[in-house]
Amino acid sequence: LKILQRAIAKYSPSISECTEMESIHGLLISLFGTAVKSAFPNLPDAPVVITLSGNNVKFGDYQCNSAMPISNMLKQSGTKVAPRDVANEILKHLPSHQLIEKLDVAGPGFINIFLNRTYGLSRLSTIFSHGVQPPKLEHPIKTIVDFSSPNIAKEMHVGHLRSTIIGDSIARLLEYLGYPVLRLNHVGDWGTQFGMLIAHLKDKFPDYLEKSPPIEDLQAFYKEAKVQFDNDEEFKKRAYASVVQLQSFEKDHVKAWKMICDVSRKEFQKIYDRLGINLQERGESFYQKHMEEIVKELDSKGYLEEDEGRKILWADAPGNGSIPMTIVKSDGGFTYDTSDVAAIKHRIEQEKANWIIYVTDAGQATHFQLLFKCAEKIGIVDRKKHRLDHVGFGVVLGEDKKKFKTRSGDTVRLVDLLDEGLRRALEKLEEKDRHKVLTKEELEKAQTSVAYGCIKYADLSHSYNHEYVFSFDKMLEDKGNTAVYLLYAYTRIKSIARNANFTAEGIKEMSKEHSISLDHEKEWKLGKVLLRFPEVLLKIAKDLYLHCLCEYLYEVSTAFTEFYDSCYCIEKDSSGDIVKINHGRILLSEATALVMEKCFHILGLNPVEKM
Ligand code: ARG
Repeated sequence: LKILQRAIAKYSPSISECTEMESIHGLLISLFGTAVKSAFPNLPDAPVVITLSGNNVKFGDYQCNSAMPISNMLKQSGTKVAPRDVANEILKHLPSHQLIEKLDVAGPGFINIFLNRTYGLSRLSTIFSHGVQPPKLEHPIKTIVDFSSPNIAKEMHVGHLRSTIIGDSIARLLEYLGYPVLRLNHVGDWGTQFGMLIAHLKDKFPDYLEKSPPIEDLQAFYKEAKVQFDNDEEFKKRAYASVVQLQSFEKDHVKAWKMICDVSRKEFQKIYDRLGINLQERGESFYQKHMEEIVKELDSKGYLEEDEGRKILWADAPGNGSIPMTIVKSDGGFTYDTSDVAAIKHRIEQEKANWIIYVTDAGQATHFQLLFKCAEKIGIVDRKKHRLDHVGFGVVLGEDKKKFKTRSGDTVRLVDLLDEGLRRALEKLEEKDRHKVLTKEELEKAQTSVAYGCIKYADLSHSYNHEYVFSFDKMLEDKGNTAVYLLYAYTRIKSIARNANFTAEGIKEMSKEHSISLDHEKEWKLGKVLLRFPEVLLKIAKDLYLHCLCEYLYEVSTAFTEFYDSCYCIEKDSSGDIVKINHGRILLSEATALVMEKCFHILGLNPVEKM
C-alpha cells in the first residue's frame, strides 16, 4: 500500500492542479475528484487515480483506480468496505458529463470509462477552427532553462550536444505551453585557465592589441599553453598574474580574453545555427561582481567555514559523508560552485524565475543537489515557491558500447558528426531513389531534415537518464520508433490530400462543410490518440521525460497506419482516376498531420512535405 500511495502521490496530480487542465485526463480527474470528495468526505487525502486503460477495448479508454487505495484507507480507520462497493459509491456521486459514454465496474473495483464519440468529435473539430491548441495553464511560471553551456577553448563535445538537444526541446515544450522561458547558455568562460591562455597569447602574438590574432584551432592553442604552464615556472607565474588582472577587469586583459572567447563563440554558433538552436549567452564571467558580493554576504552572515585556507559552505551538517561546496579557493579565486551560487541568486532575485532547469550530464548530480540545498539554506530559494530541476543525462557511448571517441581516441568533433549525418542521410535517400523524384532543393531539404532530425530524435527518444549508444545505422533505420520512419509517415499523410488535389485552403473549406469521420473503429481509435495530445504535454511538463513525446508520436503514426490500412480516403478506378473522395477521412488525416507537426516542433525536428 505504501508503494502504491507513493506512486500515486508522484503520478496523480492534485485536484486543484487538474482543474486548469484542458485535457480529457484532467477533466476526468476533476469529475472523479468531485465524486470521491462527496462520497468520502472523511477522507480528504483520498487519491484520485485515472490511468489509460491499455489495449483491451473491454476495459474502456481510461480507468479510475481509486477504489482499492480508498478501501485500504477505510480499513485502516476501522471500517471495512470492499473495493467494488467503494467503486459503486464513487459512481453514485459522479457528476454527469457528455464526455462519458459508459462506465462499468470490473475486477476488484476498477472503474472502466468509455469516451463518447460525439464529444470527441466536437473537441477534435476545433483543430480546424483554432489549430492544434496547447492546454491552457492558469499560472505559467517564469522559467529558466540552463543548457548547452560548453566551455571556452575546449571542444564542444557530444555531452554538450545532448544538453543542447534536450534543453532546447524542454524550452520548446514550455514555450508552447505558454511559459515565459529564458534560455541561458552558462558558458564556461571564466576561471584560471584564462590566465594561461592570455599569457600564451601575449607570447605568441605580442601585437594582439593591434592585430587580432589568427587563432584557428583553439584547442591546439589550449594544449600548447598547458604544456608551457606545466613546464615553465616563470610562465606559470605570469599566468597567475594574468588571472588576477583579468578578474579585476584590466582593459588589455579583458580584450585578450574577449578575443579568445570569440574564437570559441564562432564555432559554437555554427553548431547552433545548423541545429536551429536559439539561446542567450550568459557565461560564468557575467557573475564576477555577483560572486564578490555574495561571498561577502555569506561571510558576514557566518555561513562560510575556513578549511585549510579555503572557504566552504555546508549544505548539511558535516559528517555522515556530506560534502561542502567550495566558495573561495585557497588562492582567493572563485570556483564553479561560486558561479552557480551567484547565478541562482541572480536568476531568482533579478530574473524572478520560479523554475530553473539545469541540463547537464548526470555526473554533475551531486553538484546540483548541493547547490539546491545550499541555495535553500542561505535563503535564496523557497521550495514552496521555486521549482528546481537537474536534468542529468547519461553518457553517450560509441557503437562498441565504449566511450564515444574517434578511432584515434580523440573526442569526436561535433562539426564532423553533423557532417557525417548529412552524408549518411543523403546516402539513405539515394538508396531509396529519392534523388530521382525530388528536385535538387527538395532533396537538400529532406537531407538536412533527416540528418539533424535523426540525431536529435535518437537522443530524445531515450529516457534521458540512461546512457545511449550513438549509432547512425540505428538512427537511420526506417522501421520502428525512429526519426526517418516518422518523417516518412508524415510525408505520406501529407500526400493524401495533395494527391486528391486539395490545397491547405481547400482543406479549410472542406472542414466547414464536412466533419472528421470517427465512425469506423479504427478512425475512433486514431481520434482518441489525437485527443490525448494535451495530456501528454502536461505530463511531460511535470516530469520532463521527453521520450514520452516520442512514444506518443510513434503511437500516432501507428494508429494512423492501422486506420489507413482499413479505411480508404480516396478511391480510384483502374485507370487511376479518382472516383470517390471520403472527406471525413481526409480531414482525419490532416488533423493527424497537424498534431504530428506540433510534436515535431517541440522535438526540434523540421518535417518536409516531400521526401
Ligand atoms: N560548463 C559546464 C560543463 O561543461 C556546464 C554548465 C552547466 N550549467 C551550470 N549552471 N552549472 O560541464
